[in-house]
Amino acid sequence: YEHGQIDGRPRMYTEMLEQPASVERALRGRLDERFATAHLGGLEMDARELRAVRRVKILGCGSAYYVGQMGASLIEELARIPADAEAASEFRYRSPVIEPDTLYVAVSQSGETIDTLLAVEEVRRKGGRVIGLVNVVGSAIARACDGGIYLHAGPEIAVASTKALTTMFVGFALLALQLGRVRDLSVADGRRLVAGLQKLPAQIEQVLEGEERIAQAGTALAPAESLFFVGRVRGYPVAREGAQKFKEISYRHAEAYQMSELKHGPLALISPEVPTVAVVPDDELTDRNVAALHEIAARGGPLVVVTHAGVDLGELAAERIDVPRNERELDPLLLTVPLQLLAYHAALALGHDVDKPRNLAKSVTVE
Ligand code: G6P
Repeated sequence: YEHGQIDGRPRMYTEMLEQPASVERALRGRLDERFATAHLGGLEMDARELRAVRRVKILGCGSAYYVGQMGASLIEELARIPADAEAASEFRYRSPVIEPDTLYVAVSQSGETIDTLLAVEEVRRKGGRVIGLVNVVGSAIARACDGGIYLHAGPEIAVASTKALTTMFVGFALLALQLGRVRDLSVADGRRLVAGLQKLPAQIEQVLEGEERIAQAGTALAPAESLFFVGRVRGYPVAREGAQKFKEISYRHAEAYQMSELKHGPLALISPEVPTVAVVPDDELTDRNVAALHEIAARGGPLVVVTHAGVDLGELAAERIDVPRNERELDPLLLTVPLQLLAYHAALALGHDVDKPRNLAKSVTVE
């Protein structure tokens, strides 16, 4: 079970397909419909302690760091607590100010990543409180934290993380909901989020059912030597994670950029040889995003747009991938899944071993 392919399919593929089940497990027993909140017993923080949190700092590496950025948005939006994510590897090499009323969150699939572990130890040595969002039970990071949330994704073997990432997102959504409901988040908003979270497993299934179309788009992108992945605000960490996955397994240069910053540099590189994968949810920023897509199209840049049905892309000759609608705050998860499939099919088309990308290790445990 631990190694190699299953039914001739790469592990990455079977792990992507397991996501509805792993997300279901990550949610199980943690939603409270009556009080429209989440219960995360492992945090070992009571309501008074949760209310005392003035800032949230999320630390992780690689894909865990990008999901951490999604998590920071969720916490700011739902709990209205200033939150940000930083690469644990950078955090521990500068001289960070550790604040007593900041909640530090370490996020890691393996629970063994040395940079994240040493960041946790540094924070704790200086008196900060750290909770872990970790998949592997009893791992070094889980043991080093004051409390935490296990992800219950199940064993993840492929180097490119998929099902662990989606459960990390769910972990952050639960944390944001619980932090929000002991502060200003209304019952109505709490209910909205509880219902949205419950819909996720079936909606991820729907995205996976659209594989054929995404496979075509991925195969079409494979010949490009260089690509951009762009998004704005909630969509930006999705673009970062999409680019990460793409470069990890296709070995193509995939660069993520804020949609809003395109005109401040990268537009110079847009051409028919440089495709752009754009993350354009139906939200308060859609018009701005579609305007930026026109800038790309005007320079002949091929476009793949991950979006919602009903978003009007006008005359743009874009390949579109529609994902199901949920609550806006939860959009990043559903937008992330097609980008996994996109990278996977590009890598397959190039003949790469997607489970064991060159030069990478599943968890980096040495400095
Ligand atoms: C390695 C892997 C990445 C992964 C990162 C963090 O660099 O190549 O895919 O995101 O470690 O791993 P973790 O186990 O801490 O989530």
